[in-house]
Order: sequence, then C-alpha cells, then structure tokens
Amino acid sequence: MEIPRAQIKQSDLPKDLAKHKYHIETYGCQMNVADSELVEQILIKEGYEHTPNIESADVLMINTCSIRDHAEEKVHSQLGRYRKLKDKNPNLLIGVLGCMAQSLKHELLDNKPYVDIILGPDSYRKLPEILNRSDIDSKNIVDTTLSRFEVYDDLFPSRKEGVNAWISIMRGCDKFCTFCIVPFTRGRERSRTIASIVSEAEQAVSDGFHEVTLLGQNVNSYNSDGFEFHHLLSELACVDGLKRIRYTSPHPKDINIDLLNTMKKYDNICNYIHLPLQSGSDYILKRMNRTYTRDEFLILANNIRSQLPGVAISTDIIVGFPGEKLSDFNDTLDLMRQIKFDSAFMFKYSKRRGTKAIEYDDQINEQVKQKRLAKVIQLQKMHTLFRNKKMIGKIEKVLIEKISKKSKSDWAGRTESNKWVNFNMNNEKVGDEVDVKILSSNGISLRGKIL
Ligand code: 5AD
Ligand code: SF4
Repeated sequence: MEIPRAQIKQSDLPKDLAKHKYHIETYGCQMNVADSELVEQILIKEGYEHTPNIESADVLMINTCSIRDHAEEKVHSQLGRYRKLKDKNPNLLIGVLGCMAQSLKHELLDNKPYVDIILGPDSYRKLPEILNRSDIDSKNIVDTTLSRFEVYDDLFPSRKEGVNAWISIMRGCDKFCTFCIVPFTRGRERSRTIASIVSEAEQAVSDGFHEVTLLGQNVNSYNSDGFEFHHLLSELACVDGLKRIRYTSPHPKDINIDLLNTMKKYDNICNYIHLPLQSGSDYILKRMNRTYTRDEFLILANNIRSQLPGVAISTDIIVGFPGEKLSDFNDTLDLMRQIKFDSAFMFKYSKRRGTKAIEYDDQINEQVKQKRLAKVIQLQKMHTLFRNKKMIGKIEKVLIEKISKKSKSDWAGRTESNKWVNFNMNNEKVGDEVDVKILSSNGISLRGKIL
C-alpha cells in the first residue's frame, strides 16, 4: 500500500526526493499577507517547496479574514473548491489559518470535515509538529490558543520580490470597538522588540526591498519595554538604504506630538497617515467605543495637516451602524466635507458574532445601509479628485514600483502621500526614487512627467 505523503516526514526524506509542495492563499488585511509570509518561512524551513499551482499542492493553506460577512463568504466558497480537489486527491492536506480558524472553528469542524488543520493566528509555530503527526490523515487538528506573548520575533518572513516589505511590529488589539471582531480573533496587544524589527528591516534592505510598511492592528499602541512607536520609527529611519517607511493602521486616540515630530524629522518616513474615522456622529462614536468625539477628530486632522504640510490623510468609514439615524449619517457626511480625506475605505456595518454591537436592537436595514454607502462613496470620489487636483504642477518624489498597466512604456509608482502616478519611462529601474512633475489627475491616479 502506498504510504500517504502526509505520513512521510519531510525531514526524513532523502534530499533528492521530490519535495512536498505547499500552496497558500491569503484573504483580508496586510497583516494576513505578512502572516502568510511567516507561515511560508516555517514551511520552507521544514523542507516544503512552494507551488503556484493549486492542483499540484500536497498541503493547501488558506489564511482567512473575519472582519465582515463578505470576507467570510469568499473563504467559504473557496473552501468548496478545495473540497473538490480533495475528492480527486485524498492525500491533500487542507489547512484553515487566521481569523476564521479562530472564530469559526466549531462550525468548520461540524460542516467541513475535509479540513485537516485549523490554526489560529498565534499557533503557526505548531505547523511543523502538526504536519509530521502520523494521525494527521485521520483527525482534524485544531489549535486556536491565543497567546499573550507570541510575536514571532525570531522568525523572518519569506518574501516575494517587490519594492515593499511588510513588517509586523505588534499583534492583537485591546481597544474593543463594539463592531469589531479583531480583539477576539487576534487577542491581546503585544509588541516585538525594536532590535528584532530593525534587524528585519536591515535584512529586507539587503534582500533588495526599498520600502517597509509597519503593520499592526494598532501600530501606535506599540510599546516594547517602554519604547513607543515614535522611538521605533526613529530607529528605523536610520537604517542604511531604507528609502521609505510607511505604517498602518494607527488609532486616532494614540496619535501624539512625538509621532508627528518624528515624521517631520525624517525624510524617509512617508508623509501619509491612515486615520480611521468610522463615524462623524458623537452618538455613534460613543456607541462604537471609539473614545474620541467628532470635534477631537477634526482638531487632530487639522493639527496633522498643519504640522505636516502636504500630508495625505485617508480613512475608514462604516455606515449603517446600529442606531445610526439620518442625522447621525449626515454628521458623517458633514465631517467628511470638512476634512476632505485624500481617500477612504468605506463599509456597510456587518454584524459580527461575539461583539457588543450585534446585541443592539436597533439594527439598520440592508437597503438603508446600501443607500448610505453609495452616498459616502460618491462624496469621497469628489474629495479624492479635489485633493488630487491640488497636486497638479507639484514636483513629487515617486518610488517606481512596476510597469504601468495602461502602457508598457510608462512606469507606475507611488508618491510619499500614497498616490499612484503613471509617467514616462527613460532609463530608470524598479526601486528608483525619481522626481516627477504632476501634470493631471483622473480620479484616483495621477499622470506625471519625469524630470
Ligand atoms: N463591519 C463593517 N466594517 C468593519 N470594520 C471592522 N469591523 C467591521 C464591521 N463589523 C472596518 C473598520 C476598520 C476596518 C479595518 O474595517 O472601518 O477600520
Ligand atoms: Fe478593531 Fe477597533 Fe481594534 Fe481597530 S482599534 S482592530 S477597529 S477593535
């Protein structure tokens, strides 16, 4: 009888024997992208080899997101496809990782018995041990223990080629916004050490990356032995050869003058802040447990703009939160008009099991949510255009990221303020930082001319 591949330890195989192949798909936020790179590193260390072809994988992993219903639906339908692959190849191992593993393990165990491994975001170190277990074919193996300490400090991710390297600096969230599932799926806040983050950034530079984006559910809650987020930024800004530093997402409540001063001081910290508003109504903000008022947010946004001239501010907005009356929604539109964000991610409120907001008995109906969403999107489009038009005639430093989708003779790159610019190609290469004069704006992207 042929031994199922999964029962042969990869480490026991002779070196020249074909390697076990893994394929991993990632849904959700950048944090998941970074986590998948970490998982890849763990698998590669174990002797697994990546395959871009899902059909030839021996181990198929899906890193999942629970933030909204829609994100979960996408994963459910993808798992349906995985099931068919398993019908064809019973030795295939299927693993569900990340937030859905954490929040829906019972449902997965009950309804998707073909899933072999269920691992929450703090359990990835267990993968080698699990893959080497002899009973892996006959049992579902579940580990969703959340840790107060796990930050994967010693594990550097396996990165694909590119310009930007994602670096996770802290994990978890203690804010407990009443709509959000993250504190339940990712557990308590904890930070990596500055030394380990700096050494990962140095490694990224020596691997050919030009930019790092620091990731965390609440990057500016970063605290490692008393060192705060601005201390970390200052250290990273001095890494030799690091052209750009970005970060996402900060919480408005934790933005302080030290952070703004640090951004002002170092040229390689990008002049861009993602500042999630969520709602412009004091009543809704309080119900969301956002811990700031609309006036405080407005003062903060104005302060950021005056401290950091030319800064771009983007945001997140939720419409149709329980109890959102028309006047509350109008308050959101009004605050948007006052601030005129450069860009925004806009969502309909989605009920999440286990959160406080699901218990509110004044939920908003789907049609109203849809209408409100369409309205904020329309308004934001005007503001993006307004902000982008203001850039016409300016000379911007652009980091070249790729060949433009629109034309093979154009580059596409981002300004410090996180705006895409297409411009003519000469003798530059990907990763060069060049001066570009902005000529026009057509919605979200800009057109420029290299100087
Ligand atoms: N419904 C809709 N949007 C949500 N977000 C988080 N939870 C929910 C939810 N239940 C949005 C918030 C957050 C972004 C990452 O996702 O705007 O800032
Ligand atoms: Fe969720 Fe709020 Fe934490 Fe952001 S700050 S991850 S929205 S609970």
